[in-house]
Amino acid sequence: MDRVNKALRRVPPWVVYLLGVVPFVTVVVPGLSAIDPVRSIEWGLGLWALRLILLSLTVTPLRWVGLNLLRFRRQIGLVAFAYVVLHFASWLSIDMGFRWGQIGADLVKRWYIVIGMGALLLLIPLAVTSNDASIRRLRATWNRLHRLAYPAAILAMIHASMVGKVWTLEILAYVAILSGLMAVRIWKNGVKRVVWA
Ligand code: HEM
Repeated sequence: MDRVNKALRRVPPWVVYLLGVVPFVTVVVPGLSAIDPVRSIEWGLGLWALRLILLSLTVTPLRWVGLNLLRFRRQIGLVAFAYVVLHFASWLSIDMGFRWGQIGADLVKRWYIVIGMGALLLLIPLAVTSNDASIRRLRATWNRLHRLAYPAAILAMIHASMVGKVWTLEILAYVAILSGLMAVRIWKNGVKRVVWA
């Protein structure tokens, strides 16, 4: 593991932003020629948002087992947030066509959208404070604030699980991963420090 960590230390963190463009291309390019392009792009962006949120939560447990990705955590979190925003924007634009009446009706009719919005709202303060100046200014509050990542991930997971009529194997795997991450965290830090402190 030491050799891997040593090699990773030579990788500049901005590489994560470059890599972050790849899923966008793999979603949008085939999505445009899919049978249902709107659904394909919207789901693809949502799935990547979820995968990247989970990846950002694995950084700390991976460190406990020796793999140090800490210097990439901010970039992974920000790329995840970008995918949440893109997913939200795809709903607002290509799905709803900015028809505000329909947007209102969709919110009342489909609860999972409200839950998704809750996740997005919780992630905004995390994204806004993901910089050195905020860490210095907020100190201990910063750590507490960033624990919102767990409630946000839980809401995102509930949202994604409610969309389909059946749970796909992929969604089941993500539920298992998030449950595992939470269990490990509770085991290490206690309930209070996982969800709120
Ligand atoms: C952290 C935030 C979010 C994540 C991780 C997320 C993730 C996902 C995922 C993974 C799916 C597909 C589910 C599946 O494959 O079974 C999905 C679908 C969907 N999401 Fe989100 N989502 C988030 C926030 C939002 C927000 C804020 C909105 C809109 C306000 C939204 C609207 C939708 C819609 C409308 C669908 C279903 C599309 C359809 O049925 O064609 N999501 N989301």
